[in-house]
Amino acid sequence: MNEQQRKEMSQIKQRDAADRKSGQDKPLQEKTSSDFAKYFETTYEPPNLNKARKRGRDKVNVHYDFGIPEDIENIGVGKKFLIRTYGCQMNEHDTEVMAGILTELGYESTNNTEDADIILLNTCAIRENAENKVFGEIGHLKPLKLEKPDLILGVCGCMSQEESVVNRILKKHPQVDLIFGTHNIHRLPQLIKESFFGKAKVVEVWSKEGDIIENLPKVRKGKIKAWVNIMYGCDKFCTYCIVPMTRGKERSRRPEDIIQEVRHLAAQGYQEITLLGQNVNAYGKDFEDIAYGFGELMDDIHKVDIPRVRFTTSHPRDFDDHLIEVLAQGGNLLDHIHLPVQSGSSDVLKLMNRKYTREQYLELVAKIRKAIPNATLTTDIIVGFPNETDEQFEETMTLMAEVGFEAAYTYIYSPRDGTPAAKKTDNVPMDVKKQRLYRLNDLVNKQSKESMKRLENKVVKVLVEGESKKDPDVLAGYTEKNKLVNFKGPESSIGRIVEVHVTEAKTWSLNGIMVENTVEVN
Ligand code: 5AD
Ligand code: SF4
Repeated sequence: MNEQQRKEMSQIKQRDAADRKSGQDKPLQEKTSSDFAKYFETTYEPPNLNKARKRGRDKVNVHYDFGIPEDIENIGVGKKFLIRTYGCQMNEHDTEVMAGILTELGYESTNNTEDADIILLNTCAIRENAENKVFGEIGHLKPLKLEKPDLILGVCGCMSQEESVVNRILKKHPQVDLIFGTHNIHRLPQLIKESFFGKAKVVEVWSKEGDIIENLPKVRKGKIKAWVNIMYGCDKFCTYCIVPMTRGKERSRRPEDIIQEVRHLAAQGYQEITLLGQNVNAYGKDFEDIAYGFGELMDDIHKVDIPRVRFTTSHPRDFDDHLIEVLAQGGNLLDHIHLPVQSGSSDVLKLMNRKYTREQYLELVAKIRKAIPNATLTTDIIVGFPNETDEQFEETMTLMAEVGFEAAYTYIYSPRDGTPAAKKTDNVPMDVKKQRLYRLNDLVNKQSKESMKRLENKVVKVLVEGESKKDPDVLAGYTEKNKLVNFKGPESSIGRIVEVHVTEAKTWSLNGIMVENTVEVN
């Protein structure tokens, strides 16, 4: 036993003694929800969506001083972690940050729950079914926790920002040891320490955070494509959406920090970056000292030597002419724009608080197409918003066709506690909503297939990501317009951009053969 382990052992003994005194050492099976409730009455402040909704005028402070406290530097040595990620790219990227922090603590990653000493569920709150999946997983992990009481089981991400979720976990799922929110990720070392040495559950969810923490470590998922956060939070308050409460107010990273990160990724050989924000078009609106927005940022990133730059997600309202002008330069700025419309009816858009009409959306599309004739547009659509009429839904169908979206993420509206839309009584039966989704998806599939068909017998540039999931003899990658291509080619092309001749179009992917003798096509 080395010095560190001896220290840990003695701390565990002290903790056990304290537990026995406080009655917290009951085996998990015997703990009742009132054991936890008693404990939390004195130590825990629940998250509060109302507080989270409020926007202050406080200055955004940027911190560059993240560090691992000396006494826990090696807390994870010889141990393993597993993080399950649900939801959007923002969560995927947060997982990379948490993996970075855990790696700095000495943990190694594993894909096997049974080998893990710490399991974190990085959750999504956007729709009810996303939450149900997480509660299902919490249930699945209970036997493992009973078998391995030292396992730290944590829940983080957007769901932990909701008071109802935290209460449900505390009352019904005693196997969860640690709950922390989206604003508390940088506190992970301290939280693990508390969970490790403390006597009960650790809950830390800040309802509000106005700051940016810059120098967090990251372990990125691959070496070809990377996420880059450009801003956090959302101030749009669409009436159906919980994100402005779970992710806090809009705050932008400083341009120099973003550009440095992008340059660094380019130097490491990354071929593609995706700039991330809940509403990237609002980038820079919170700067008080400089007039620098998303257009300026894209213009600067355009000059960095990295082959492909994407961004997500855009809000039509803030998509300005300068940005269109910058994107029209092309180069590494790809001509695929994901532009969530949500509904084709101006009346529904009003109720959604989207702040644009169908006509204004179409004007924006026309402007984009004029400046970037080959632009591919994709979108997000919600059907069955409270009281959506048949006619209003038909307007969504006609808009889908009129714009010619090549793909769309489609959802049935899901009421979220704490949002204005959830308070509305809804006269649309679920089977009608399902029928609408079915019809919309039919149209989406048709339009996707047509866009794929147009590429048959053409040559496309593909960033090769690796072997296809279905067939290890086939390689897979994405075109500039983000279309999946499966093709035969040498393994040496993985991580490079190559030309592929498309031989067959399917609904959601293309098949092809790599063009002989293509070297890099940057
Ligand atoms: N119900 C259904 N879909 C939703 N989205 C956001 N909130 C809800 C909700 N309450 C969809 C929107 C958004 C995408 C990320 O999720 O279409 O653009
Ligand atoms: Fe939600 Fe609207 Fe913000 Fe998107 S822009 S995250 S839909 S509130």
